[in-house]
Amino acid sequence: MRVSMDNVTCKPTPSGRASLLHASKPVLPVRCRSARLRTLAAAAVDTKQQSRLAFVDLQPPDPILGVSEAFKRDTNDLKLNLGVGAYRTEDLKPYVLNVVKKAEKIMIDSEENKEYLPIQGLEAFNKATADLLLGQGHAATKENRVATLQSLSGTGSLRVAAEFIAKFLPGKTVYLSNPTWGNHKNIFADAGVEWKWYRYYEPKTVGLDFEGMMEDLRGAPEGSVVILHGCAHNPTGIDPTREQWEQMADLCIEKNHLPFFDVAYQGFASGSLDDDAWAPRYFASRGMEIIVAQSYSKNLGLYAERVGAINFVLSDAEAAKRVMSQLKRIARALYSNPPVHGARIASIVVSRPELFKEWNEEMEYMSGRIKQVRQDLNGHLTKINGDRDWSFILNQVGMFSFTGLNKEQCKVMTDKHHIYMTSDGRISLAGLPSSKAEYLAKAIDDCVRNH
Ligand SMILES: Cc1ncc(COP(=O)(O)O)c(C=O)c1O
Repeated sequence: MRVSMDNVTCKPTPSGRASLLHASKPVLPVRCRSARLRTLAAAAVDTKQQSRLAFVDLQPPDPILGVSEAFKRDTNDLKLNLGVGAYRTEDLKPYVLNVVKKAEKIMIDSEENKEYLPIQGLEAFNKATADLLLGQGHAATKENRVATLQSLSGTGSLRVAAEFIAKFLPGKTVYLSNPTWGNHKNIFADAGVEWKWYRYYEPKTVGLDFEGMMEDLRGAPEGSVVILHGCAHNPTGIDPTREQWEQMADLCIEKNHLPFFDVAYQGFASGSLDDDAWAPRYFASRGMEIIVAQSYSKNLGLYAERVGAINFVLSDAEAAKRVMSQLKRIARALYSNPPVHGARIASIVVSRPELFKEWNEEMEYMSGRIKQVRQDLNGHLTKINGDRDWSFILNQVGMFSFTGLNKEQCKVMTDKHHIYMTSDGRISLAGLPSSKAEYLAKAIDDCVRNH
C-alpha cells in the first residue's frame, strides 16, 4: 500500500530528509492527524512491502565491464582477461607511470589546496591540453578560437558535447562508425541526440570498408555530425591512411559536415603524440570547425582520475567565447566543477620539459610492448595456421585487435579456453603478456578450425 505524502504531515529528520522512505521501523517521526493516517504511515515504512520502483527493469551488465566480472569468478589458472582497455605490464600488473608519481610528489611538496576549480577547469590544464592536441603555437589557440573545457575524462567530455548538440544543433544526426566504442550510443541517446551508423568495418578483409564509409557519409544530410576516432579506432584497431583522411576531409567540406573527433589514445597508439594527433590537426588546417574530446585515461594511465577535455575549434574568437559560456552552463548542471587532482598531474607533466620527455618515453614503452605482443601473436598464428593471412593483426594499431571471431567463437574462447573478451571479437592486447601469446594463438586457431 502506498501513502501519498500529501496526506501525511512529516517532520523532517535531523538529516533534513523526510523519514518515511528510509526508516526501517515505524518509529513515526511523523505527526499524523488521525489513527487511520498513522496506520497508513506505518504501512509505508514497512520495508517488506513491494517497492514503488518494482516496475524498474534490470539493466544487463555493461558488455565490457561485465567481462571483468565474469573473469573474476573464473578460478582456472589459465584465465586471461582481454576484455578491458587498460594497460598491464608483462606481469599483468596495472602500471602507474613514473611521471605521474613524480608530479604527485611535486603536488604534495607545494601543498596545493582542494578548493573548487572554476567550472571550465584548471587554466594550466586547459592550455596544456589544447596545445597537446593542436601543437604548440597553433593559429587557432593564438587567435583564441578554441573553447576548451576540462571535463570528466573522455566520457564526460563527449557527454558535455552531446548535450551541446542536443541544445544548439537540434535535429542534427550524429553518425557513428559501425562498430564503435559501445558507450558512444549511450552518450548520444541519453542526451536525446539521434544517431545513425556509417559503414566502417569490412569482415572479409578484417579491414576498413572505405568505400562504404564514404558512400554513407556522402548520403548523410548536409551538416551532419560525424564521430571520428582520432587514432587507434576502438574496437577494430583499424585507422584510415593519411590519403583516406584527406578524402574524408574533402567530403566533410563538400557536405558541410561537422567532424567530431574522439581522441582517447593520443600518443599511446604510435608512441608519438604528434603522429597520433595528425588527423584532427589536418582537419583544422583545412579551415574546418571541429569538436575534439580528449582523454588522459590511457596515455597518462589516469583511468580513475577522470582527466579530459572537450575542445571546439572555431572560426572566430567571438563564437569560441559564446560556445565556452554554454559549455560551462551545461557542465554546471551536470557536475558543477571538474576534479583537480588528475588535471594538476597532467598540466605538471606537460609543462615541465624533463617530465614531458620522460612521459613520451613511457608512452613509447607502453605502445612498444603492445606492438611486441602483436608481433608475437601474429608469429604464433602464422606458425600454427599458415593457410590463413594473419597480417591484419600487424596492420591494426593501438590497444585493440579485432580478431574477426564471431559471437559463438568468442563464447568458445571463454567457456573452453578461459579467455575473456567482448562478444564482437575484440581483444585488448594491452592485457596480453608475451608469455601467453602462444596460448592465445592456439585458442584462436581452435576456434577458426573447429567452431
Ligand atoms: C573511443 C573511446 N572514447 C572514449 C573513451 C573514454 O574513456 P574515459 O572516459 O576513461 O576517458 C574510451 C575508453 O575506452 C574509448 O575507447
